[in-house]
Amino acid sequence: FKQKTAYEISACLVGSEMCIRDRFNIDAEVKESAHARVNLIGEHTDYTGGYVMPTLLSFKNTIEISQNNSNEFTVYSQHFKEKKTFNDFKKSINNEWVDYIKGCLHIFFDENKISSRFLSIFISSDIPLERGISSSSALCVATLKALNTFFETKIKDPEIAKLAKKVEFNYIGVSGGIMDQMVSSIGIHGKAFFMNCKNLEYELINFPENWKFCLIDSEVQRNLRDSSYNERFAELQEAEKKLGVEYLGEVKKENFQTNKFDNNTIAKRAKHVVFENDRVINAKKNLIENNIQEFGKLMNESHVSYSKDFEASTLDVDLIVQRSVECGALGARLTGGGFGGFTVSLIERNNFSNWYSKILNFYPAEKIFEVN
Ligand code: GLA
Repeated sequence: FKQKTAYEISACLVGSEMCIRDRFNIDAEVKESAHARVNLIGEHTDYTGGYVMPTLLSFKNTIEISQNNSNEFTVYSQHFKEKKTFNDFKKSINNEWVDYIKGCLHIFFDENKISSRFLSIFISSDIPLERGISSSSALCVATLKALNTFFETKIKDPEIAKLAKKVEFNYIGVSGGIMDQMVSSIGIHGKAFFMNCKNLEYELINFPENWKFCLIDSEVQRNLRDSSYNERFAELQEAEKKLGVEYLGEVKKENFQTNKFDNNTIAKRAKHVVFENDRVINAKKNLIENNIQEFGKLMNESHVSYSKDFEASTLDVDLIVQRSVECGALGARLTGGGFGGFTVSLIERNNFSNWYSKILNFYPAEKIFEVN
């Protein structure tokens, strides 16, 4: 099985329009892509100055750009099968997909002091939406990379990531860290991206031959995601205030005491983050030393913490995680911002066909995707 099955058929490649020429009858002057990611371990640790370890998926967004001779921007999304035109960068009232493009254009022109030129933009994507694999960051990174190439602005990849974050944070208005934008802009397919989110130093680490990661789609769309995510974001800020630290990432597991909090919920949220940082550092060590069992154990502990202390899982997701481990995965957990989406499992390659045949008793092949 491949990474793209169900979505190729259902969402993305329906119809014949495959590129900008098919839609606008012009050739692409520039074409850039950016990939979605799965976070292997380290959840809600990025905006709290801690550690993360995502890796890129082969799902991606592709942006094609050409100058047009009209007096408006024209953007077509193959996924939504919709064309939008505009000549200012005002955000829509009903949160439309095109806001991400408007936001990128606005921030890009503004930051680079470039006078805007009207463009035709064609977006194609095979990234499943609302599944915790950062489709929106990949869209922003791909768009900004395409603008960077088109206008020859020579912005470096980490700066592209920061601009993408600005689009999501300042223009769209969602809380979040910098993990998704950084890995989408800089990551390399087939390598783990370990990052210290405080200083943005990162390492790209190879996976040992015998390790295999797989996604299982819970199909729980993360409708409540934004409000619940923002709630957790605020709770962690409260925890930082309570402990008198700039970032929870500074707090060592050994020094963490729940009795410093008068609110049990805040204590549990903070505990997840403090212990999760410790797990990410251990996970990196175990990845480098090829200790697959230990890495799997850390993933399992991470899920329990995410589900019980951070309360960001759902019953359906917990069941997938449990079944995956029962079928032979060494570790499994919910990935991404929480409240639904994809789970990620670690399986020893020698045991893969055994795990796969067992997990098929519970979930169809269309819901299972290989990462590496
Ligand atoms: C979302 C955010 C990230 C990160 C994760 C949780 O994907 O965009 O910045 O906070 O959730 O780890």
